[in-house]
Amino acid sequence: MPTPTGALLGASYQIPEEEGVVVDARKRETYPALIRRLSHQSVVKHFDAYADIDWDAPEMQIDPEDSRWELSDDDMLGRTAWYKSQPQAVRARIGLHIMANFMKIGLDFENVLKRGLLEFAMTLPNGAPEFRYAYHEVIEEAQHSLMFQEFVNRTGFPLKGIAWWQRIGSRQVVRFGRTFPELFFVFVLAGEDPIDHVQRSALRSGRPIHPLLKRIMQIHVTEEARHLCFARHYLREHAKDLGAVKRFVLSRRAPFILAIMAQMMMRPSPGIVRTYGIPRAAIEEAYTRNPEHRRRTLEALSKVRDLLVEVGVVTPSAERLWRFLRIWPEAVPA
Ligand SMILES: [Fe+2]
Ligand SMILES: [Fe+2]
Repeated sequence: MPTPTGALLGASYQIPEEEGVVVDARKRETYPALIRRLSHQSVVKHFDAYADIDWDAPEMQIDPEDSRWELSDDDMLGRTAWYKSQPQAVRARIGLHIMANFMKIGLDFENVLKRGLLEFAMTLPNGAPEFRYAYHEVIEEAQHSLMFQEFVNRTGFPLKGIAWWQRIGSRQVVRFGRTFPELFFVFVLAGEDPIDHVQRSALRSGRPIHPLLKRIMQIHVTEEARHLCFARHYLREHAKDLGAVKRFVLSRRAPFILAIMAQMMMRPSPGIVRTYGIPRAAIEEAYTRNPEHRRRTLEALSKVRDLLVEVGVVTPSAERLWRFLRIWPEAVPA
């Protein structure tokens, strides 16, 4: 029987605050003290992919036709007439397939993230508090990837993760960990914020969630609260010192990164669309022409967008790019 290292089980679980664990200490806390507190939290509240998840318990087993995998009316695809017209077993299978694909993409993202963090750590001098925290984060992300891959394996879906061109592009992101950490941490937030937003919304919804998925999301949300806190505060601390050239590059690349990541994290992959023959009309109804989907995407990106505005990276000319990419709030039809 696994031995939980954190108090996450049962009704006592509470979704942690997003800005770290002791929010009211933030105002009087210096940046190095914050990083040291996050490191300490990683020691006293961390999880192991195999010790803290009882993968072989009967209630944790995955039945692809279990109704708890079905997309609810709250889901953009789940509320379409096409989805509702599918047999129950197909509806459940589609829901599980989308979730497993989400985890596969998530673990590919975490692979890039870990490599970038190691590059970042190599640039740090002795005594830098970020060094220790970067290693805690690498260790936690490695545990997340183990649990995501185990989940994917147990679904049996032959998922491939990110596309070949994204793998090639990811090498540049890894390099940014060393050469341009501010841009690297925008990438981190662009991936982590939407995942975190989706998982928090699911946990808060009160809908029946399969216990295995619920356990994975609880663990992930708890540790991601720290990762997001670190990335945000790193940007707050360092973006103000950027030179003109790097500031310009950051302002132009950030909206593209956010637009691409949001698309990957909030819509079914082309492979899933093909597998189930989801008609173009259903995709348009659910996503392309759906103001509610736009609204949710913008909501998922709102924290990182506000942060980039705060640190002065969204200049008036950069804002036009955000509008062009349809990730600026005023672009939403009334
Ligand atoms: Fe993670
Ligand atoms: Fe993370």
